[in-house]
Amino acid sequence: MSVVDMLGKAGVVPVIVIEKEEQAVPLARALVGGGLGVLEVTFRTKAAAGAIAAIRREVPEAVVGAGTLLTAEQLRAAKKAGAAFGVAPGFDPAIIEEAKGEMLPFCPGVATASELSQALTAGCPMVKFFPAEAAGGPKMIKNLLGAFRFTGVKFMPTGGVTAGNLADYLAIPEVVCCGGTWVVPKDALAAGDYAAIEKLAREAAQLVRSIRG
Ligand code: 3PG
Repeated sequence: MSVVDMLGKAGVVPVIVIEKEEQAVPLARALVGGGLGVLEVTFRTKAAAGAIAAIRREVPEAVVGAGTLLTAEQLRAAKKAGAAFGVAPGFDPAIIEEAKGEMLPFCPGVATASELSQALTAGCPMVKFFPAEAAGGPKMIKNLLGAFRFTGVKFMPTGGVTAGNLADYLAIPEVVCCGGTWVVPKDALAAGDYAAIEKLAREAAQLVRSIRG
């Protein structure tokens, strides 16, 4: 199955900020247990690469990608740790080239028609629409699709997506999945409340099923 297919099957991709590497495995087990099998571990903390490697080792049923890849070093570290895909909040041709060299499926961030156009020229068939709610939400995606649908572009909206507005995004056929932090609340993770996280994951997975029928 391609990465895009796996993302599409998941519908929701938890965007994870891990402070301590030892949180990675119980967190991944809670998310997978709740029914969310594709995870994005962000390179906003030093624990990211170790967390990805630990999840690969201990929770092999999870598909784990790397997020917030802003530098070539981070991208190489993500690949080395075993990330299945990479995501960035913005469009940076240098990172896209690095991802190609590392053979890492990569989803750059776009928020405008110009960035989307450049992403397609750079050979990226799927983009992260970020910050989704602030950049115009589902309405903006539909407007972009008016001009770009024929290219076959796919979207992963992230930023301000919650259980409350997920349906509006997933109703758009070109939206493969949505990313979001709402299934991994900072407080619950800090407290080690993996049961609460599993419950949120289960609710999100059920929501995806009910939206898509
Ligand atoms: C991201 O990194 O993709 C966003 O910060 C996630 O946005 P959210 O916290 O609104 O879900």
